[in-house]
Order: sequence, then structure tokens, then C-alpha cells
Amino acid sequence: MHYSITRENPALENADCLIVGIFRAKKLSNVAEQLDKASKGAIREILANGDLIEEPGQSLLLYAIPGVRSPRILLVYCGEEEKVQLLDFRKLIALLTQRIKTLNLDRVSYYLADLQVLGLDCSRNIHQTIEIMEDGLYTFDQLKTKKIDKAVYSPPKNLIFYLPESEHSSDIAKTIQQAIAINVGIKFTKDLANLPGNICTPRYMAEQATNLAKDTGLAITVLDKDAVQTEGMGALLAVARGSTEPLRFVVLEYKGGGNEQKPVVLVGKGVTFDAGGISLKPAASMEEMKFDMAGAASVLGAFKSITTLKLPINVIGIMPLTENLPSGSAVKPGDVVKSLSGQTIEIINTDAEGRLILADALTYSRRFDPDVVIDIATLTSAMIIALGSVATGLMSNYKALATELERAGDQSYDRVWSLPLWEDYQEQIESNVADVANVGINGGKSITAACFLARFTRQLHWAHLDVAGTAWKSGKDKTATGRPVSLLVQFLINRSNKKD
Ligand code: BES
Ligand code: MN
Ligand code: ZN
Repeated sequence: MHYSITRENPALENADCLIVGIFRAKKLSNVAEQLDKASKGAIREILANGDLIEEPGQSLLLYAIPGVRSPRILLVYCGEEEKVQLLDFRKLIALLTQRIKTLNLDRVSYYLADLQVLGLDCSRNIHQTIEIMEDGLYTFDQLKTKKIDKAVYSPPKNLIFYLPESEHSSDIAKTIQQAIAINVGIKFTKDLANLPGNICTPRYMAEQATNLAKDTGLAITVLDKDAVQTEGMGALLAVARGSTEPLRFVVLEYKGGGNEQKPVVLVGKGVTFDAGGISLKPAASMEEMKFDMAGAASVLGAFKSITTLKLPINVIGIMPLTENLPSGSAVKPGDVVKSLSGQTIEIINTDAEGRLILADALTYSRRFDPDVVIDIATLTSAMIIALGSVATGLMSNYKALATELERAGDQSYDRVWSLPLWEDYQEQIESNVADVANVGINGGKSITAACFLARFTRQLHWAHLDVAGTAWKSGKDKTATGRPVSLLVQFLINRSNKKD
């Protein structure tokens, strides 16, 4: 959808539909009031019939209201005027999106940017609106021969935000530009993650990264198996051994900041299919393990956004890409491998592969002398039990970085919640044959996974984002969510602003 701004008198606005708010007990919003006056009371008269259900997001479509230039008005119930809850607001926009995408509209004028949503200013309101709408309009039908029916899916081409007097159009134009750029990244991430493992292989992802680098002038390095072997990434090699599909190790470099500015390094887990290896997963829902590259896809998505926004900051993206399959050549439980860091690892469970490939990627990140390193990984199913699909798990060895991520999460509504990374957990991953074991005994599975990574990030300022519960939705309508692209880009925007 294309987004713009208007200050035109609503009654004179030349759109296909006006989206207008109504509050509890049939209270009219300012714009509804203006339209009611222009129509000599038609809006109030219609509302008096009681057809607008008083639940956030419920709507009533009106046609040919006298005195109003646009042929349609969609009245939307918004709850309490003074204090719309943020969650209600988000649900409202989602419902509204479902409503308007079937109406076959070209130009829609939107009058809800001035809603008094608790915790949102006008700019955030518009940002959230764009993100929720784009999410509601997202479809993935590139592998269907019969495309989605236009009669049930025809999103508006243009959405025009009416701005309250107090807002500067230049500020809001910037907000819109940022929201659009973030959504380009989100969509890129979703598409990649939604693609099945037979299409989205390590080579395919490396190709996507190469295309992105070409289009945007990024520096890129793609290592193949031989190069990875020469580097000494024994942990990544161990995971890739069971597969005939070759591994890739991709490094993207974005230089928006000065030469002396230390980079942010983003490391994304890119397991394009995780069958578990010899520690084979059960068949039920195994197809969802095509999403196990969502971390790497979110790094690519974030790069797409920051290159669009041209942020004045240095960012490195590292993506270890492989499948995790069982075969005669696969790594076995009990095998000991040597990681790039020099530490030896006893592979107790081949299904704990994410931490293995991340260990080598995190070690590799040191050569960029990073300011901070953030890894993004669908690492542990225990994360789903702990935080569900609402918050991403955050574990960090550096409080200031955790605080920055929490703030960016709150701003973007792509939220994180901190779990402890205390040394006390470290004894759970001790091995009697190697330096460390790849799984922990006893509970705290998400934390012991992070503790494993912590052994490869000593002295780095590092944070780990476990997106196992947030990067995709399971079940019949399984789909990638694009998280945590919004969080990552907000984090980078905040950092860019600080260094301005
Ligand atoms: N990719 C999975 C984690 C996962 C599983 C995410 C299900 C979302 C849904 C990861 O590689 C894995 O298999 N983790 C194991 C670790 C265990 C063997 C210690 C897990 O979480 O069960
Ligand atoms: Mn696994
Ligand atoms: Zn995995």
C-alpha cells in the first residue's frame, strides 16, 4: 500500500472511503462531528439505530452521505475516547484491515491517527498502523498455481493519513518512510522463512544475500565448505555433515558510519531445515522446521531496511547456513568436535545444532572488533513454554545492551523479556570428555543454551535473542511473523540517532 498525508477538510476529501472513529456511547470523534454537520445530522441519525457494535474494531459502512464528497464512510468503534488501550488499538487496526481489504478501494482517507492511545503518540500510532496493516495484507501465494481470489483480497492502493493540527507533516513523513522501510525488511524475512526447505536452501539464502549486496552496494563474503574448513569452524561443519546440500557461511558488511565507529554485529541462525539429525525429531509438525532459518532471515530483513533508510551506522551480518539431517555421514551423539574458538564440544544431542553453528559464527564476529554482538535464533522449544508467542527471550552478558534492546522492543511492540544468564547454570553443560557439552542436564533449557553461547562470547558485549516462540506462528495457518526485524531496526535507528 502507498501511504501519504492530507490536511483536507474531511467533507471535501476526494477518496473512495473515509475511515472515521466513534467512541463509547455513540460519541463522535472530531472528524465524525464535522461530517455529521456537513450532512445535517445524518451520521448521528444512523448511529441512533444501534447497528455499530461497541467492540474495538467493529465497523459500519455507510454510502452516499449527503454533503460528503467521498462515496463511502466506514465508522469504526474505538472504545473510550480518552484512553484507548494499546492492545485494543492493535486489534482494532487488525480487524479494520480485514474489513477494508475486501472493499476494492483505491484511495482511503484515514482519520484515526489522533486516537488517544495509551503509550502512543501520533507518530507511533501511524507507525503501528502501517505495520499492523501490512501484516494483515501479507499473503504468501508464490507457490500456488491458483492465486488468491481478488474478490476476497483487494487491498486499497493508497492510504492517506489525516493529521491533527499539532503534528508536523515532515516528522510524520519521516515516520511513514521508516515504517515502510521496516516493512520491506519484514516482508523479505517472511517470504524467505515461509519458503520450504527444498527451495530455501543454504545456497538459496546465500544467493538472496548476494543479490541484496549487489542491489545496495554492500560488501559480501560467501564461504563454502572448504573455506569453512580452512577457517576451522568444526562445529558448523559437524552439523552440515549429514546433508548433501552444501553449507554456506555469509558475511554482509554495511558501512553507514565512520571508519572509526565499531560495528554492531548481527548473527542469525540459518538452519534451512532442522530434522534433528541422528537425534531425529518426531514427525508431528516437523515441516515447521523449515522456519529454523528465521534468525538469518531476520538479519537479511534488517539489512534490507537499513540500506533503504541509509542509517549512519556500521553493521555486520553473519549467517551460518546449513541443514540438519540424519545420514550415514551425519555427526553422532557422543562425537567431539573442535570449534573455531579452539574449545572442544561433546555433541550429546545432534538436535541442539543451532548453538553449534552460532558458536563458530560468534567466534568469527570477533575479527570485526564489534561494539556489540546480537544473535537471533530459533534456538529452544522451551522458549515457547516460557514466554509463548508474545515476547522474545533475551539473555545478555551486558546490562546496557539488554536495556537498549528492551527499549527498542517496547517502542516497536516487538517485545523482549530478559532471562537470567547467571554463572550458576554453567555447570549444567559440563562434559567429562570435552570442554563443554551441547546440552544441559536438568531444567532451564533456554538458559543453558544461552550459557553455551556465552562460552564463545567472553569479553564481547553480547545479547542473545531466542525467537523460537515469536518468529513464526504454528498450526494450520503456520506462517513467519517477520519478528524481530522491527525490534532490530528500531534498535539500530536509536543508535544512529545517538551518534548523529
Ligand atoms: N530449532 C529447534 C528449536 C525449536 C523447536 C524451535 C521447536 C521452535 C519449535 C532447535 O534446534 C532444537 O531442536 N532445540 C532442542 C534442543 C534440545 C535438543 C536440547 C529443543 O529445544 O528441544
Ligand atoms: Mn534442532
Ligand atoms: Zn534448530
